[in-house]
Amino acid sequence: MEIRTPQSQQEWDAYYDLRYRILRAPWNQPRGSERNEQDAIAIHLACFESGKILGVARLDTESDDFAQVRFMAVDDTAQGKGIGKKIMLAAEQNARMLGYNRIMLQARENAIPFYLSLGYTQKEKTHLLFGEIQHWRMEKEI
Ligand SMILES: CC(C)(COP(=O)(O)OP(=O)(O)OC[C@H]1O[C@@H](n2cnc3c(N)ncnc32)[C@H](O)[C@@H]1OP(=O)(O)O)[C@@H](O)C(=O)NCCC(=O)NCCS
Repeated sequence: MEIRTPQSQQEWDAYYDLRYRILRAPWNQPRGSERNEQDAIAIHLACFESGKILGVARLDTESDDFAQVRFMAVDDTAQGKGIGKKIMLAAEQNARMLGYNRIMLQARENAIPFYLSLGYTQKEKTHLLFGEIQHWRMEKEI
């Protein structure tokens, strides 16, 4: 298992496809809705096993105060095996190397226990995505 940024076009296609399948398709969102303009400047992390991408996340570094993790997703056949945790630890390591001492994220309600297990603190309730997915702000000192 290896965590790194996708390189070839095929790897980038697999990266965005996983994001789409896990974070957009179940809510009937169109292809393309899994991307936004900050993809061009963010740090992208993917977990590779036997050439296949099983998990992804993006680290945004636009703020001076904190780094932000977005688009965290693990293939539904590979959840609960520690892949999400490995990617989050890699994101934290990247953030620390860039001089950050805090990470924030907008957690889907279903993922709150996952982030709590990694030491994140649940802050305030934030937005409702697609009319049904409640998000909560969470933070961690790293
Ligand atoms: C949430 C998600 C990213 C977690 O990744 P994962 O690979 O399944 O999680 P891991 O196996 O690395 O779990 C790490 C820890 O979190 C805990 N955890 C994960 N999901 C949990 C849950 N639903 N309830 C309780 N604990 C949970 C695990 O028990 C584990 O704890 P441990 O280290 O003490 O054993 C993944 O399940 C996923 O992609 N879900 C759907 C998309 C989503 O909701 N993404 C988050 C958007 S904010």
